[in-house]
Amino acid sequence: MAWTYFKRYRMEIELAEELPEPVFPPRYLFLPWSDALLEQHVRVKYQSFRQEIDANVFSCFTHEDGCRRLMLAIRRKPGFLPGATWLAGYQPDSEGDKLEYCGTIQGILDEETRLGAIQNVGVTPGHRGRGVGSALLLLALKGFRQAGALRAFLEVTAENEGAIHLYQHLGFAIVRTVYKVADVPAGR
Ligand SMILES: CC(C)(COP(=O)(O)OP(=O)(O)OC[C@H]1O[C@@H](n2cnc3c(N)ncnc32)[C@H](O)[C@@H]1OP(=O)(O)O)[C@@H](O)C(=O)NCCC(=O)NCCS
Repeated sequence: MAWTYFKRYRMEIELAEELPEPVFPPRYLFLPWSDALLEQHVRVKYQSFRQEIDANVFSCFTHEDGCRRLMLAIRRKPGFLPGATWLAGYQPDSEGDKLEYCGTIQGILDEETRLGAIQNVGVTPGHRGRGVGSALLLLALKGFRQAGALRAFLEVTAENEGAIHLYQHLGFAIVRTVYKVADVPAGR
């Protein structure tokens, strides 16, 4: 094991301005939060993050049970906001095929500061680059806005250039650099 510092950015967006409407890619469905979907969020979170840089920063992403504990912790937070928590699913061509769950995002609202915190947006590798991540983010931002939030923020690892590009594209700006220390196993 070796202690490693990961440079991360806090990024924020004002919610006072009109937000662009989410564009839903064909054959993708976006399901609002329900407790019955917790396990689906867990599995999508695990599949989205297990091979990514954030699995080095947060060891919970390296196993499904870690993702379950994280999802339960988010669900139990006082500010958990169902309106900013969404699951994406892909509907294959043929009728009757089951939905393939492929995207997740969760939101927490601080009622006092009216600041929304985006948690772990993730899209499974086979479904990236089709607009699913953008649609999830815009749905979450809309949910925050409807609940009275003035701003929303997230944290992203500096090496995660694709995600940073996506957030900037949607109007987020870097407001602060933070460092997260993690105990990374040798060879990762
Ligand atoms: C980041 C992530 C959620 C993006 O989801 P996605 O569904 O691929 O995003 P979209 O298809 O909506 O992409 C939207 C834009 O972001 C850009 N983008 C997204 N991922 C990118 C990448 N890896 N490299 C370069 N650009 C990327 C796309 O170019 C696109 O821009 P365009 O519309 O101008 O072409 C997804 O890559 C992912 O789950 N990554 C692993 C988990 C992770 O790191 N999550 C972020 C934690 S902070």
